Amino acid sequence: MATPTMDKVEAEASASPYITVTFRIRRFNPEVSAEASWEDFRLEIDPKERVLDGLHKIKWELDGTLTFRRSCAHGICGSDAMRINGKNRLACKTLIKDIGPEKPITVEPIKGLAVHKDLIVDMEPFFQSYREVMPFLVTSGNEPTRERLQSAKDRERFDDTTKCILCAACTSSCPVFWNDGQYFGPAAIVNAHRFIFDSRDEAGDQRLEILGGQDGVWRCRTTFNCTDACPRGIEVTKAIQEVKRALITRRF
Ligand code: SF4
Ligand code: FES
Repeated sequence: MATPTMDKVEAEASASPYITVTFRIRRFNPEVSAEASWEDFRLEIDPKERVLDGLHKIKWELDGTLTFRRSCAHGICGSDAMRINGKNRLACKTLIKDIGPEKPITVEPIKGLAVHKDLIVDMEPFFQSYREVMPFLVTSGNEPTRERLQSAKDRERFDDTTKCILCAACTSSCPVFWNDGQYFGPAAIVNAHRFIFDSRDEAGDQRLEILGGQDGVWRCRTTFNCTDACPRGIEVTKAIQEVKRALITRRF
């Protein structure tokens, strides 16, 4: 077999897609220290890979104690929201090449929720608020014998807020939520919106009553952080405004 020439070897090496990237990760292990600290990991990776791939590489090849949530790895389950380079994003939807890999990539847990370990936060307060707005269809009377019909126009009314995957990127980017975790937060309001404006639902008034209280929509300061953070492109601030308007007019 012919030996490859030096030129060919060099050409192949220069065509390698891999680059060296530093992941700067906020680590916290309450069994080791009460303080969180930054830890750097250098890895060879194709910049077309996602931040989640980098985290997997670290966990599987460099430090098995690194702890984070993920499930689908394709932007559907909402479990891997984290602060990447200071912005809330899904690790599985963030390409390394898009976030300036020539500098260290910082990865931290989302803010406003207690950290259990490394990138894992306590999601219970978030889901508690979600449950409180009754995120399900409420109807009265007998069960229909066929599906509940709805016009395309009526369905369109709440289409945007059906896209939520409960990742908490919006709620944990909200300064009001950081300062007071009692605020329902954008995600709960988005999921209330989804049913308040559903023509088949009969509990709009009840949800408005809940969201009109002291921890509800009037806490929103319209900073648009939530809309910027949403990986599903939901117009979160607009949904909050619509709920505010429905509270005033009682029209939905
Ligand atoms: S509204 Fe967007 S950012 Fe907020 S929980 Fe739903 S998908 Fe995530
Ligand atoms: S792992 Fe499911 S959304 Fe990222």
